[in-house]
Amino acid sequence: MSKINVINPKLAEILANAPSNDVARQDYFISIAKEEIQRRSDELGRKLTCCVNTFGCQMNARDSEKILGVLEAAGYVESEDEHSDFVIYNTCTVRENANNRVWGRLGYLSTIKKKNAQMIIALCGCMMQEDIVREKIKKSYPYVDLVFGTHNIYRFSELLVQTLFSDYQIMEILDDSKKIVEELPIVRKYAYKSGVNIMFGCNNFCTYCIVPYVRGREKSREPKDIINEVKKLAADGVIEIMLLGQNVNSYGKGLEHPISFAELLQEVEKIDGIERIRFMTSHPKDLSDELIDVMAHSKKICKHLHLPVQSGSTNLLKSMNRRYTREHYLALVKKIREKLPDIALTTDIIVGFPGETDQDFEDTLSLVKEVEYDSAFTFIYSKRTGTPAASFENQIPDDVVKERFDRLLKVVQEISAKKAMEYTGKVVDVLVEEVNAQDPSLVTGRLSNNSVVHFAADKKFIGSIVNVHLDECKGFYYLGTMVTE
Ligand code: SAH
Ligand code: SF4
Ligand code: F3S
Repeated sequence: MSKINVINPKLAEILANAPSNDVARQDYFISIAKEEIQRRSDELGRKLTCCVNTFGCQMNARDSEKILGVLEAAGYVESEDEHSDFVIYNTCTVRENANNRVWGRLGYLSTIKKKNAQMIIALCGCMMQEDIVREKIKKSYPYVDLVFGTHNIYRFSELLVQTLFSDYQIMEILDDSKKIVEELPIVRKYAYKSGVNIMFGCNNFCTYCIVPYVRGREKSREPKDIINEVKKLAADGVIEIMLLGQNVNSYGKGLEHPISFAELLQEVEKIDGIERIRFMTSHPKDLSDELIDVMAHSKKICKHLHLPVQSGSTNLLKSMNRRYTREHYLALVKKIREKLPDIALTTDIIVGFPGETDQDFEDTLSLVKEVEYDSAFTFIYSKRTGTPAASFENQIPDDVVKERFDRLLKVVQEISAKKAMEYTGKVVDVLVEEVNAQDPSLVTGRLSNNSVVHFAADKKFIGSIVNVHLDECKGFYYLGTMVTE
């Protein structure tokens, strides 16, 4: 803490009476927060609102659901509007622009706070694990009330209570945690689909990537905890789950009774009520034949595999510490396509990694043309402080990167459009996800292969799987007609 803070006597008493068991402790703090929120609400004559804003990946989004779970249990009412009594940014730091968005919006939040004395501003997530970020907050953002990181989300209700009863900035960061705390409240964004963490952290240390530093070492959840969670979700009406981890293919290592990711998938498949299973992310170096076989025989695993390649050049892959070669990756794709001919393959690609030569870049282009991805996320290399690649020589000039990026994007888009055309005219299973944002007479649904289709249907179909004829391909999405009912 930057200054010596005098603890409020009421808070001292609350802390002294707290149970030590993690779950009981957090329940205790939720009930105290609830009393205080009720008191404030009575005083103001209105409900207190909260807004949780997610900046990062699916794992970040799942954490936001845990944060919202605590806030709602404490009596806050969810709002999308940042003019709320409690606003929290769940941050991402994977690329510089993710950080810039947070700094930019924080200034805006301070103007809102000036008009609402009740307002609490909190920051959490990956960015907060960085020392330089916390220094900047302490120095330049005194109006931020609470800061915590990725390893202590399970302590959020306690931190909330500390914030409610203090008038100084609360900052709690753990460097890593071996602990996985189960059974805390959670509020799902969607009724019919949910992410499920199967593991946390990452041990791969790709040289460009900050995730292992901000998410800590890889640890898998116990299979029984995962299965129980999925069963509960199914009982609650969820039909699609997305198993989440930075590298799901190495799931199970380090457990007392190690099991493979493919074995876990088979267990999840048995759960009644779950109709679709997705997972993110697969690292090519660990993708097993066993997994391909399980996918080929499964009725529930979606026909989509996200297999980040990052680069098509073996030299660059080596310097990225990806631990596979171009040839290995292409052989893997061939094997997957043989066993799963209708699978959609998607990927992540980084352009402008230090040392990327024209030839390296051409290798990436040729790999993209050879694999023919259904879609690809393309990223400009972003230098992350503390990662090995940040100090590599031969950082690539911006204009060269931009030119390569544009060329790659064009190729990726042409291929995606061509692949999408192949499905036009087919009737496919679609999970109806939401009312179309632009045209409320339409709904938007997702195919097993993760493409999106818009079609006319009643909103009562949201959350169910229906048959849709894909009438027309618009490049990145389809227009269709529902054929059931
Ligand atoms: N665990 C996943 C990826 C998580 S990060 C995996 O290994 O595939 C998502 C994507 O962000 C990565 O696949 C990579 O393409 C991109 N990325 C990560 N660090 C980056 C950086 N420093 N600059 C640009 N893109 C980056
Ligand atoms: Fe980052 Fe590599 Fe881990 Fe993915 S596998 S999170 S890219 S270090
Ligand atoms: Fe970002 Fe953290 Fe996810 S850095 S990509 S939110 S794991």
